[in-house]
Amino acid sequence: MTTDTRESAKVAIVTGAGHPDGIGAASAKALRDQGYEVITFDLEGADHAVDVTDAQQVAKAIQAVAADFGHLDALVNNAGVGVGSANLLEQTSEDLDLTLAVNVKGLVNCCQAAIPHMLQTGGGAIINVASLCGLRALPAIPHAYTASKFAVVGLTKSMALEFGPNHIRINAVCPGSVDTQMRSKAISLLAEQEGISLEDAEALETSTISLGRAATPSEVAAVVAFLCSENAAQITGAAIPVDGGMTGGF
Ligand SMILES: NC(=O)c1ccc[n+]([C@@H]2O[C@H](COP(=O)([O-])OP(=O)(O)OC[C@H]3O[C@@H](n4cnc5c(N)ncnc54)[C@H](O)[C@@H]3O)[C@@H](O)[C@H]2O)c1
Repeated sequence: MTTDTRESAKVAIVTGAGHPDGIGAASAKALRDQGYEVITFDLEGADHAVDVTDAQQVAKAIQAVAADFGHLDALVNNAGVGVGSANLLEQTSEDLDLTLAVNVKGLVNCCQAAIPHMLQTGGGAIINVASLCGLRALPAIPHAYTASKFAVVGLTKSMALEFGPNHIRINAVCPGSVDTQMRSKAISLLAEQEGISLEDAEALETSTISLGRAATPSEVAAVVAFLCSENAAQITGAAIPVDGGMTGGF
Protein backbone atom coordinates (compact mmCIF):
# COMPACT_ATOMS: atom_id res chain seq x y z
CA MET A 1 0.00 0.00 0.00
CA THR A 2 2.79 2.40 0.87
CA THR A 3 4.44 1.73 -2.48
CA ASP A 4 1.15 2.42 -4.29
CA THR A 5 0.77 5.77 -2.57
CA ARG A 6 4.35 6.78 -3.41
CA GLU A 7 3.75 5.83 -7.04
CA SER A 8 0.38 7.54 -7.41
CA ALA A 9 0.86 10.80 -5.47
CA LYS A 10 2.16 13.70 -7.51
CA VAL A 11 5.79 14.54 -6.81
CA ALA A 12 7.21 18.04 -6.45
CA ILE A 13 10.69 19.43 -5.83
CA VAL A 14 11.01 22.79 -4.06
CA THR A 15 14.43 24.47 -4.11
CA GLY A 16 15.68 26.87 -1.45
CA ALA A 17 13.34 25.31 1.11
CA GLY A 18 15.87 24.76 3.90
CA HIS A 19 14.97 27.79 5.98
CA PRO A 20 11.90 26.95 8.10
CA ASP A 21 10.45 30.48 7.87
CA GLY A 22 11.04 31.02 4.15
CA ILE A 23 8.75 30.95 1.12
CA GLY A 24 10.25 27.59 0.08
CA ALA A 25 9.29 25.76 3.28
CA ALA A 26 5.82 27.32 3.13
CA SER A 27 5.46 26.21 -0.52
CA ALA A 28 6.51 22.67 0.41
CA LYS A 29 3.84 22.63 3.12
CA ALA A 30 1.14 24.03 0.80
CA LEU A 31 1.92 21.35 -1.80
CA ARG A 32 1.92 18.57 0.83
CA ASP A 33 -1.49 19.86 1.99
CA GLN A 34 -2.57 19.47 -1.65
CA GLY A 35 -1.48 15.79 -1.63
CA TYR A 36 1.96 16.09 -3.20
CA GLU A 37 5.02 14.14 -2.13
CA VAL A 38 7.48 17.02 -1.74
CA ILE A 39 11.26 16.80 -1.77
CA THR A 40 13.16 19.89 -0.69
CA PHE A 41 16.57 21.10 -1.89
CA ASP A 42 18.83 23.69 -0.25
CA LEU A 43 22.44 24.25 0.73
CA GLU A 44 21.46 22.99 4.19
CA GLY A 45 18.37 22.12 6.21
CA ALA A 46 16.51 20.37 3.35
CA ASP A 47 15.89 16.75 2.28
CA HIS A 48 18.76 16.97 -0.23
CA ALA A 49 21.84 19.22 0.09
CA VAL A 50 21.91 20.76 -3.37
CA ASP A 51 23.67 23.87 -4.60
CA VAL A 52 21.52 24.95 -7.55
CA THR A 53 24.48 26.69 -9.20
CA ASP A 54 26.15 23.28 -9.69
CA ALA A 55 24.54 21.71 -12.77
CA GLN A 56 25.96 18.26 -12.06
CA GLN A 57 24.76 18.23 -8.47
CA VAL A 58 21.30 19.36 -9.59
CA ALA A 59 21.09 16.72 -12.34
CA LYS A 60 22.12 13.96 -9.93
CA ALA A 61 19.63 14.99 -7.24
CA ILE A 62 16.71 15.40 -9.65
CA GLN A 63 17.53 12.07 -11.31
CA ALA A 64 17.53 10.43 -7.86
CA VAL A 65 14.09 11.84 -7.02
CA ALA A 66 12.62 10.81 -10.38
CA ALA A 67 14.10 7.32 -10.05
CA ASP A 68 12.83 6.97 -6.49
CA PHE A 69 9.23 7.98 -7.26
CA GLY A 70 9.05 7.02 -10.93
CA HIS A 71 7.88 10.48 -12.00
CA LEU A 72 8.30 14.20 -11.35
CA ASP A 73 5.23 16.42 -11.68
CA ALA A 74 6.18 19.84 -10.34
CA LEU A 75 9.24 21.98 -9.74
CA VAL A 76 9.25 25.14 -7.64
CA ASN A 77 12.36 27.23 -8.34
CA ASN A 78 12.47 29.24 -5.15
CA ALA A 79 16.20 29.35 -4.28
CA GLY A 80 17.40 32.92 -4.51
CA VAL A 81 19.81 35.47 -3.12
CA GLY A 82 19.86 39.23 -2.82
CA VAL A 83 23.39 40.34 -2.04
CA GLY A 84 25.51 43.45 -2.05
CA SER A 85 24.93 47.16 -2.21
CA ALA A 86 21.94 48.85 -3.82
CA ASN A 87 24.35 51.48 -5.12
CA LEU A 88 25.54 50.51 -8.61
CA LEU A 89 28.95 52.07 -8.12
CA GLU A 90 29.51 49.90 -5.03
CA GLN A 91 28.28 46.67 -6.59
CA THR A 92 31.10 44.13 -6.74
CA SER A 93 31.73 41.68 -9.50
CA GLU A 94 31.36 38.84 -6.93
CA ASP A 95 27.88 40.10 -5.92
CA LEU A 96 26.82 40.25 -9.57
CA ASP A 97 28.21 36.77 -10.30
CA LEU A 98 26.58 35.15 -7.25
CA THR A 99 23.20 36.78 -7.90
CA LEU A 100 23.11 35.64 -11.53
CA ALA A 101 24.54 32.20 -10.67
CA VAL A 102 21.82 31.40 -8.12
CA ASN A 103 18.80 33.31 -9.41
CA VAL A 104 19.24 32.68 -13.14
CA LYS A 105 21.71 29.87 -13.85
CA GLY A 106 20.46 27.85 -10.85
CA LEU A 107 16.91 28.05 -12.17
CA VAL A 108 17.99 27.01 -15.67
CA ASN A 109 20.00 24.10 -14.21
CA CYS A 110 16.90 22.84 -12.36
CA CYS A 111 14.63 23.24 -15.40
CA GLN A 112 17.09 21.45 -17.68
CA ALA A 113 17.29 18.54 -15.26
CA ALA A 114 13.55 18.34 -14.48
CA ILE A 115 11.92 18.90 -17.87
CA PRO A 116 13.10 15.60 -19.48
CA HIS A 117 11.27 13.70 -16.68
CA MET A 118 8.11 15.75 -17.25
CA LEU A 119 8.32 15.10 -20.99
CA GLN A 120 8.47 11.36 -20.28
CA THR A 121 5.20 11.42 -18.33
CA GLY A 122 3.37 13.86 -20.59
CA GLY A 123 3.50 17.12 -18.65
CA GLY A 124 4.04 19.01 -15.44
CA ALA A 125 4.13 22.40 -13.76
CA ILE A 126 7.05 24.71 -13.03
CA ILE A 127 6.71 27.70 -10.75
CA ASN A 128 9.49 30.26 -10.64
CA VAL A 129 9.62 32.48 -7.57
CA ALA A 130 10.60 35.78 -9.21
CA SER A 131 9.81 39.09 -7.51
CA LEU A 132 7.97 42.33 -8.02
CA CYS A 133 11.53 43.42 -8.91
CA GLY A 134 11.13 41.22 -12.00
CA LEU A 135 8.35 43.52 -13.20
CA ARG A 136 9.54 46.95 -12.13
CA ALA A 137 12.43 48.68 -10.40
CA LEU A 138 12.06 49.38 -6.69
CA PRO A 139 14.24 51.70 -4.58
CA ALA A 140 17.13 50.34 -2.48
CA ILE A 141 17.28 46.97 -4.22
CA PRO A 142 20.63 45.77 -5.67
CA HIS A 143 20.58 46.25 -9.45
CA ALA A 144 21.88 42.71 -9.98
CA TYR A 145 18.86 41.36 -8.08
CA THR A 146 16.42 43.34 -10.24
CA ALA A 147 18.22 42.20 -13.40
CA SER A 148 18.14 38.58 -12.25
CA LYS A 149 14.41 38.66 -11.51
CA PHE A 150 13.62 40.29 -14.89
CA ALA A 151 15.58 37.36 -16.34
CA VAL A 152 13.44 34.91 -14.35
CA VAL A 153 10.26 36.46 -15.77
CA GLY A 154 11.73 36.35 -19.29
CA LEU A 155 12.78 32.73 -18.92
CA THR A 156 9.33 31.88 -17.59
CA LYS A 157 7.67 33.30 -20.69
CA SER A 158 10.09 31.82 -23.21
CA MET A 159 10.12 28.36 -21.59
CA ALA A 160 6.30 28.42 -21.39
CA LEU A 161 6.21 29.05 -25.14
CA GLU A 162 8.57 26.16 -25.88
CA PHE A 163 7.01 23.58 -23.58
CA GLY A 164 3.30 24.46 -23.77
CA PRO A 165 2.80 21.91 -26.58
CA ASN A 166 4.27 19.30 -24.21
CA HIS A 167 1.72 20.17 -21.49
CA ILE A 168 4.31 21.66 -19.18
CA ARG A 169 2.90 24.87 -17.70
CA ILE A 170 5.52 27.39 -16.55
CA ASN A 171 4.56 30.42 -14.46
CA ALA A 172 6.19 32.95 -12.14
CA VAL A 173 4.99 34.41 -8.88
CA CYS A 174 6.20 37.93 -8.17
CA PRO A 175 6.10 38.62 -4.43
CA GLY A 176 6.40 42.21 -3.24
CA SER A 177 7.40 42.24 0.41
CA VAL A 178 7.27 38.95 2.30
CA ASP A 179 8.04 38.60 5.97
CA THR A 180 11.25 36.49 5.79
CA GLN A 181 14.96 36.97 6.50
CA MET A 182 15.29 38.40 2.97
CA ARG A 183 12.84 41.20 3.80
CA SER A 184 14.88 42.10 6.89
CA LYS A 185 17.93 42.52 4.64
CA ALA A 186 15.94 44.66 2.20
CA ILE A 187 14.78 46.91 5.03
CA SER A 188 18.36 47.32 6.26
CA LEU A 189 19.40 48.44 2.76
CA LEU A 190 16.51 50.92 2.63
CA ALA A 191 17.47 52.32 6.07
CA GLU A 192 21.07 52.70 4.87
CA GLN A 193 20.09 54.36 1.60
CA GLU A 194 17.64 56.80 3.22
CA GLY A 195 19.77 57.39 6.35
CA ILE A 196 16.85 56.44 8.62
CA SER A 197 16.25 53.92 11.41
CA LEU A 198 15.19 50.32 10.75
CA GLU A 199 11.76 51.08 12.25
CA ASP A 200 11.31 54.07 9.94
CA ALA A 201 12.52 52.04 6.96
CA GLU A 202 9.99 49.31 7.72
CA ALA A 203 7.22 51.91 8.06
CA LEU A 204 8.32 53.54 4.78
CA GLU A 205 8.29 50.23 2.91
CA THR A 206 4.95 49.21 4.43
CA SER A 207 3.45 52.55 3.37
CA THR A 208 3.96 51.49 -0.28
CA ILE A 209 1.81 48.37 0.20
CA SER A 210 -1.83 49.05 -0.53
CA LEU A 211 -3.02 46.34 1.88
CA GLY A 212 -0.86 47.89 4.59
CA ARG A 213 1.30 44.90 5.48
CA ALA A 214 3.90 42.51 4.07
CA ALA A 215 2.70 39.08 2.90
CA THR A 216 3.30 35.98 4.98
CA PRO A 217 5.27 33.16 3.31
CA SER A 218 2.14 30.98 3.34
CA GLU A 219 0.18 33.63 1.41
CA VAL A 220 2.75 33.39 -1.39
CA ALA A 221 2.83 29.58 -1.07
CA ALA A 222 -0.95 29.46 -1.62
CA VAL A 223 -0.46 31.01 -5.07
CA VAL A 224 2.42 28.63 -5.83
CA ALA A 225 0.17 25.67 -4.94
CA PHE A 226 -2.70 27.09 -7.01
CA LEU A 227 -0.44 27.45 -10.06
CA CYS A 228 0.65 23.80 -9.65
CA SER A 229 -2.97 22.64 -9.45
CA GLU A 230 -5.46 21.70 -12.15
CA ASN A 231 -7.37 24.90 -11.27
CA ALA A 232 -4.60 26.70 -13.16
CA ALA A 233 -4.86 24.39 -16.20
CA GLN A 234 -5.19 27.37 -18.59
CA ILE A 235 -2.43 29.50 -17.05
CA THR A 236 1.07 29.41 -18.50
CA GLY A 237 3.71 32.05 -19.16
CA ALA A 238 2.14 34.30 -16.53
CA ALA A 239 4.03 36.42 -14.00
CA ILE A 240 1.58 37.01 -11.18
CA PRO A 241 2.18 39.78 -8.63
CA VAL A 242 1.54 38.65 -5.03
CA ASP A 243 2.30 42.01 -3.51
CA GLY A 244 -0.63 43.38 -1.54
CA GLY A 245 -1.06 46.08 -4.17
CA MET A 246 2.53 47.32 -3.96
CA THR A 247 2.33 47.55 -7.76
CA GLY A 248 -0.19 50.36 -7.42
CA GLY A 249 -2.16 49.03 -10.36
CA PHE A 250 0.86 48.38 -12.56
N1 LIG B 1 11.10 37.93 1.13
C1 LIG B 1 10.75 38.76 0.18
O1 LIG B 1 10.30 39.89 0.46
C2 LIG B 1 10.81 38.33 -1.28
C3 LIG B 1 10.22 39.18 -2.21
C4 LIG B 1 10.26 38.82 -3.55
C5 LIG B 1 10.87 37.65 -3.94
N2 LIG B 1 11.45 36.83 -3.00
C6 LIG B 1 12.07 35.61 -3.51
O2 LIG B 1 11.55 34.50 -2.80
C7 LIG B 1 12.50 33.44 -2.80
C8 LIG B 1 12.62 32.89 -1.39
O3 LIG B 1 13.13 33.90 -0.55
P1 LIG B 1 12.79 34.04 1.01
O4 LIG B 1 12.26 35.40 1.21
O5 LIG B 1 12.00 32.87 1.48
O6 LIG B 1 14.26 34.07 1.65
P2 LIG B 1 15.20 32.89 2.15
O7 LIG B 1 16.56 33.50 2.19
O8 LIG B 1 14.64 32.30 3.40
O9 LIG B 1 15.11 31.78 1.00
C9 LIG B 1 16.06 31.61 -0.01
C10 LIG B 1 16.65 30.22 0.12
O10 LIG B 1 17.48 29.96 -1.02
C11 LIG B 1 18.56 29.20 -0.55
N3 LIG B 1 19.71 29.27 -1.45
C12 LIG B 1 20.55 30.32 -1.66
N4 LIG B 1 21.53 29.97 -2.51
C13 LIG B 1 21.30 28.68 -2.87
C14 LIG B 1 21.97 27.76 -3.71
N5 LIG B 1 23.08 28.10 -4.38
N6 LIG B 1 21.46 26.51 -3.84
C15 LIG B 1 20.34 26.15 -3.16
N7 LIG B 1 19.66 26.98 -2.34
C16 LIG B 1 20.15 28.23 -2.20
C17 LIG B 1 18.90 29.81 0.80
O11 LIG B 1 19.70 28.92 1.58
C18 LIG B 1 17.52 30.07 1.39
O12 LIG B 1 17.04 28.99 2.18
C19 LIG B 1 13.80 34.02 -3.37
O13 LIG B 1 13.95 33.61 -4.72
C20 LIG B 1 13.57 35.51 -3.28
O14 LIG B 1 14.32 36.21 -4.24
C21 LIG B 1 11.42 37.14 -1.68
